[in-house]
Amino acid sequence: MKLLIMGPPGAGKGTQAEMLVKELNITHISTGDMFRAAIKEGTVMGKKAKEYMDKGELVPDEVVVGMVKDRLQKPDCEKGFLLDGFPRTLAQAQALDETLQDMNIQLDAVINIAVPRDKLMARLTGRRVCRNCGASYHILFNPPKVEGKCNNCGGELYQRSDDNEEAVANRLDVYEAQTQPLIDYYAGKGLLKNINGDQEIKKVLEDILACLKAK
Ligand code: AP5
Ligand code: ZN
Repeated sequence: MKLLIMGPPGAGKGTQAEMLVKELNITHISTGDMFRAAIKEGTVMGKKAKEYMDKGELVPDEVVVGMVKDRLQKPDCEKGFLLDGFPRTLAQAQALDETLQDMNIQLDAVINIAVPRDKLMARLTGRRVCRNCGASYHILFNPPKVEGKCNNCGGELYQRSDDNEEAVANRLDVYEAQTQPLIDYYAGKGLLKNINGDQEIKKVLEDILACLKAK
């Protein structure tokens, strides 16, 4: 299956993506994770991306588009993929359409996770992420079994540098201005699956799997 998952910052894209790719045996492509890996490695692109990310701004389209194009050519995408956090602008969506057309690939569905804005701030400021495998937890809503340690791999949990109130508020504004219009874009293509993300994590997953089966 070739899927996109979209939704505002904190909607649960990463949380659901981690479970979906296991269930469907497809490759997870998260542009946010790719940038964080580049920052960790200290690459030129990582340093540039960090300036935008820490403020809650989008990394310029040409950087992201080039990175995703290269990623989609890798052999592990042949079994199917889930794009998470991309596209985020109309220009990115159009570039993705062109790339997929060149590769003779069609998307099966676009999953849109909806959560009211007033819930997102609490989700993001309480989030903790595994330094080793990237799994997401929440100090209240999804705590790890052992405090500060990842359930999957025992890795150390940390707080992302863009999960402070100021950066989150900006990320939410940027989402509304630049990414939300893509909902209509994909609805117009008949690909959109709207999911209520304001429910328990397990129930959100069940709803996503049910709507993919019903396709
Ligand atoms: P990215 O890493 O993609 O961040 P984001 O879109 O802001 O999304 P998040 O990862 O914050 O949220 P999520 O929806 O994955 O939520 P999660 O599952 O963790 O991007 C970061 C930055 O990189 C961007 O700001 C930008 O600068 C740059 N970037 C990335 N892609 C780009 C692109 N295409 N173009 C340009 N720039 C780009 O859940 C959040 C919390 O809620 C967790 O604590 C979780 O445990 C909890 N939670 C999850 N589900 C539930 C639930 N159902 N109930 C209660 N709590 C829940
Ligand atoms: Zn881990």
